[in-house]
Amino acid sequence: HRGWIYYLSVAPSHQKTGLGKKLVAIGEDWLREHGVWRMQLMVRSENSAMQDFYRHLGYRALDVTVMQKDIDIPPADRGR
Ligand SMILES: CC(C)(COP(=O)(O)OP(=O)(O)OC[C@H]1O[C@@H](n2cnc3c(N)ncnc32)[C@H](O)[C@@H]1OP(=O)(O)O)[C@@H](O)C(=O)NCCC(=O)NCCS
Repeated sequence: HRGWIYYLSVAPSHQKTGLGKKLVAIGEDWLREHGVWRMQLMVRSENSAMQDFYRHLGYRALDVTVMQKDIDIPPADRGR
């Protein structure tokens, strides 16, 4: 019942022209048409501008812990 937005971004030259809002709406519409009624996304805690943008579109913050582990050496560090 849950869909995700992953790393939404609008090129700086095209920001503040309604594109970000339109992209979110397209994602929400697609999910709704497929019977999915909840959208989720992750935003870094320090990215307050992104959080403000999503709040403006009606999203709320959840108290969730995201967990992560490096299971290999990052490609950029291999061979060092
Ligand atoms: C945040 C981002 C997606 C917004 O896209 P955008 O195309 O510039 O925003 P829009 O023009 O569609 O704005 C839509 C509405 O949100 C509002 N808004 C835009 N940025 C906002 C912000 N930082 N805080 C509050 N409101 C914001 C606009 O005023 C507009 O309001 P309105 O519909 O009432 O007139 C864009 O600035 C961006 O790509 N930022 C950097 C990307 C990034 O950090 N990605 C990491 C993903 S976790």
